[in-house]
Amino acid sequence: MTLTRAAAFAPSNIALTKYWGKRDATLNLPLADSISFSLAELGSLTIVAPQPDLAADEMVLDDKPLDSAGMTKVRRVLDEVRRMAGSDVKAGMRSVNTVASARGLASSASAFAALALAASKAYGLDLDLPALSRLARIGSGSAARSVHGGFAKWRKGDAADGQDSYAEQLWPASHWPLRVLVAQVRDGKKEVSSTAGMQHSAVGSPLFTAWIGQCERDVPACQEALAGRDMRKLAEVVEGNALAMHATMLATRPPLVYWQPATVAVIHAVRRMRRDGAECCFTIDAGSSVVVLTSAQDSRPVAETLSEIAGIEQVIQTRIGEGARLVNADG
Ligand code: PMV
Repeated sequence: MTLTRAAAFAPSNIALTKYWGKRDATLNLPLADSISFSLAELGSLTIVAPQPDLAADEMVLDDKPLDSAGMTKVRRVLDEVRRMAGSDVKAGMRSVNTVASARGLASSASAFAALALAASKAYGLDLDLPALSRLARIGSGSAARSVHGGFAKWRKGDAADGQDSYAEQLWPASHWPLRVLVAQVRDGKKEVSSTAGMQHSAVGSPLFTAWIGQCERDVPACQEALAGRDMRKLAEVVEGNALAMHATMLATRPPLVYWQPATVAVIHAVRRMRRDGAECCFTIDAGSSVVVLTSAQDSRPVAETLSEIAGIEQVIQTRIGEGARLVNADG
């Protein structure tokens, strides 16, 4: 087995129908399928260097040592790679988010997809896309989807060991070249992590069972809207799905309130612009920022309107992009 230093980039992804509920918390197996798109440029670069003289794995994120919750997740991925490769050599891992200012975008999905690709290469494995997606998933569930570019669907699977729980590409980015606007909300508060939030919702929300049932209906409807490049239909499903997830969180005791006033202002602005003829729709993850999908033609006026809303710190403009890839490890 050849050990080498390897580096990979993986994109952030944004769910159109959300993953919010696990059937297995250790393997990150979801209760429902989910659909997402990957972002161009915004993501994580992760370098893995196996070193026989290390007594323990070393992990650095954005130039700081990783916290203990993060370390546990990274170690899970590295241990699985070592098990597959038949190695007990420890590694140094360094990960940077390519756009540090992109708050409101889940960085764990891109970081773990990049880690899965870099670590498997570093330990001499040549994994296919389903295997890479499964490996990324054990670090962070949504990372299963960041392996792919364009639009991806993560099947929940039924197997207890998670072998059938991985993401597949539905279409490449060229299928529907929408523009993506990330409306970042000024918000000093520390948010509840997705891991803790999901668990609280599952045990403390009277809406949780209905939420999972809604996802089962929304996933095929979302796929149909994407297939037909139908923005009206997409808006109905995607906005409805995000709002249903937040309704589930809001009804949790104690409640999970991720929104700020600017979050609600963006919701109203997007609905108003659509009524006035613009092609756009919004989605919101477990945070206060809002991601808006829009046509190339409408992206400039939509971005301008969003940036004028009080409490919006910045509107990042990007596109739907490519999947995880190896990059030069010396760069
Ligand atoms: O993979 P996690 O544990 O970061 O969870 C992601 C949860 C959401 O971003 C809210 C939804 C999703 O499907 O990405």
